[in-house]
Amino acid sequence: MALVKPVSKFSPRIGNPRIPVGTRFSTVRMSSTAAPPPAAAKNPKKGQKQEIQETLLTPRFYTTDFDEMEQLFNTEINKKLNMDEFEALLQEFKTDFNQTHFVRNKEFKEAADKIDGPLRQIFVEFLERSCTAEFSGFLLYKELGRRLKKTNPIVAEIFSLMSRDEARHAGFLNKGLSDFNLALDLGFLTKARKYTFFKPKFIFYATYLSEKIGYWRYITIYRHLKENPEYQCYPIFKYFENWCQDENRHGDFFSALMKAQPQFLNDWKAKLWARFFCLSVYVTMYLNDCQRTAFYEGIGLDTKEFDMHVIIETNRTTARIFPAVLDVENPEFKRKLDRMVEINEKILAVGQTDDIPLVKNLKRIPLIAALASELLAAYLMKPIESGSVDFADFEPRLVY
Ligand SMILES: [Fe+2]
Ligand SMILES: [Fe+2]
Repeated sequence: MALVKPVSKFSPRIGNPRIPVGTRFSTVRMSSTAAPPPAAAKNPKKGQKQEIQETLLTPRFYTTDFDEMEQLFNTEINKKLNMDEFEALLQEFKTDFNQTHFVRNKEFKEAADKIDGPLRQIFVEFLERSCTAEFSGFLLYKELGRRLKKTNPIVAEIFSLMSRDEARHAGFLNKGLSDFNLALDLGFLTKARKYTFFKPKFIFYATYLSEKIGYWRYITIYRHLKENPEYQCYPIFKYFENWCQDENRHGDFFSALMKAQPQFLNDWKAKLWARFFCLSVYVTMYLNDCQRTAFYEGIGLDTKEFDMHVIIETNRTTARIFPAVLDVENPEFKRKLDRMVEINEKILAVGQTDDIPLVKNLKRIPLIAALASELLAAYLMKPIESGSVDFADFEPRLVY
């Protein structure tokens, strides 16, 4: 899974308390409530569990209608399931190309010790958010693997093998946190976090996009740092080249799943939903990243250029399977995204004032209306008709 979630609400980001640099190892928990963290969290003692405030833009955990999933993958009911294709995909997953890839070395800790100041804080946040997003994929795929075992053992095994990959990714990121004397309490996260329910059709759209955008984010960072090694401040990025191939394979599997469910791709409703999910995922990433420019600048990237590159490439890839996509290469689309960033910054600024909650909410109303109007305008831009055919013109290339 990638580092984003579909947009639902744009709300001010609440301050995220961090462990001071130099404290001993602590276990980090993410609270599922909006309550302020306990006072003790500000000064954790050795080995003490610490709560980190969850924000509304934190990557989410998903659940779905597993009974409907079973019906969709029942070969007796759905004659369009191309089991030869799934068998071939299963063999690819079984090959396990990255079995020996995620091996750490002493460079990690040494590099982490050299990262200090605000960049250290932002690095920790990057690792936490990435770990949570990967772990979210692990939980969903693991459950799908379990629930589909009887109905369709081949598809079920692919889900289980994808959960293996995501567990590996999450584990590697969590090990990265240990370089900063932290660890996410994943057992606690599993139990304590709220799960967002999506019908299977929406799980397909959202997860496909999430995997493909994850692929483009990882490969773009990898290529950039290969060309500009002076910004290679932490070795995890060196692993992104093989890592992103896992995400690409996961996305291709969802593409095969959607092809086997043409009712999710071939009517006007599918086109509307496809555009909605594209917009949600792109806008969420853009707003999230524009709040964290220090991280991207810290590795030598221009945040907006990086994001636009990722959006354009993801959109081109997505056009191979979705029946409609957004015209993200139209300069007006970026102008709208930039206006959303400006409005979002104003919303965040309201949250940081000393006003009472009622006044803050009143001040937010016109801003949220302005944001909604920009979103709607972006959604209503003339879309690009697309679909499940081979597009030679959509070969990947670096556009910045
Ligand atoms: Fe993935
Ligand atoms: Fe992953």
